[in-house]
Amino acid sequence: MEYRRLGNSGLRVSVLCLGAMTFTEKGWRSAGQMSFSEIQKVVDYALDKGVNFFDTADIYAFGESEELLGKALGKKKNDVIIATKVRGVMSEDPNDRGLSRYHIFKSIDDSLKRLKRDYIDLYQVHWWDNHTPIEETLDALNDLVREGKVRYIGISDFAGWQIAKSVTLQEAKNWAKFISAQMYYSLLGRDIEFEVVPACEDLGLGILPWSPLAGGFLSGKYSREAPYPQDSRYARMERPFLRFDFEKGYFVLDELKKLAEKYNATIAQVALNWLKAKPFVSSIIIGVRNLKQLEDNLGCIDWDLSKEDVEYLDEITAPEKPYPQWFLDMFADL
Ligand SMILES: NC(=O)c1ccc[n+]([C@@H]2O[C@H](COP(=O)([O-])OP(=O)(O)OC[C@H]3O[C@@H](n4cnc5c(N)ncnc54)[C@H](OP(=O)(O)O)[C@@H]3O)[C@@H](O)[C@H]2O)c1
Repeated sequence: MEYRRLGNSGLRVSVLCLGAMTFTEKGWRSAGQMSFSEIQKVVDYALDKGVNFFDTADIYAFGESEELLGKALGKKKNDVIIATKVRGVMSEDPNDRGLSRYHIFKSIDDSLKRLKRDYIDLYQVHWWDNHTPIEETLDALNDLVREGKVRYIGISDFAGWQIAKSVTLQEAKNWAKFISAQMYYSLLGRDIEFEVVPACEDLGLGILPWSPLAGGFLSGKYSREAPYPQDSRYARMERPFLRFDFEKGYFVLDELKKLAEKYNATIAQVALNWLKAKPFVSSIIIGVRNLKQLEDNLGCIDWDLSKEDVEYLDEITAPEKPYPQWFLDMFADL
């Protein structure tokens, strides 16, 4: 297993992180329920292969994901890095959501109870809260770090300017700083390259891509002929959550298939390898529903795509540059 620094911190995380969004025995249809025995197999296998980083959130099945992750890690739970999140709507109580000091202080205790742990390694704000001044959020997070309930803090799903504003405030006030940005990033979703990645590189945040296989689309089991295979996430969802052009997706899959044959690998492994080649990526948050998928995805670890093949994938999946990016690039050397 390869370990990378998480942003500009001293924390070392495995280049693959196991996401626990699919860890749910009841209720969450589109993520896909897993039995506890399958979760246990998946977690044990990940640990065995050197994965030391696990990601969950309070809102994944309303706390059930945190509970199941803690239970499956058992005695190992203090030997690994656990990341969780706060922000989502946990109940109908108007204060049981968001990034207020009130909700953050309540949520951290609830997450610790569910995980049966005394601290969280990486506490992430799940997405921006328009209803709370960001200073209130950052001050509350700083208090959690100073109290020892939280070791590091990170963001998820922020715009570039929101990251820049937050970290600039943290520096000015001498508050604990964000070290990571958990963002959607895959061969079919490269929007973060324009604003978020430059902000993170400048401010020392490591990128943690989520849905690296675009919800499984890039696993190789979807095709023009069978767009919704039985019991797949896309078949269970009423409408796709991630936004991408399916036609372009099928073209990318055709090219991934050729590369998979060249490297004697699988399509999923090639797609994950492209992410691994990005220096700003600290750890890729994979999601699986069974051991077979984990075995497949972990097979991206011990080899690398050539520089030329990474560049080829860069080229065929390049998003159109928005303004002011094309303007800034045009005059960058003047
Ligand atoms: N911060 C955020 O806003 C946010 C949002 C989403 C996710 N996340 C995090 O990112 C993690 C990963 O997200 P994700 O689950 O969407 O990742 P993903 O890797 O894009 O999709 C995972 C799904 O694809 C299918 N799959 C994966 N590997 C496969 C393989 N080798 N062969 C066939 N099918 C395969 C499985 O679904 P089926 O078998 O059901 O088809 C699996 O549940 C989550 O657990 C969570 O921790 C964060």
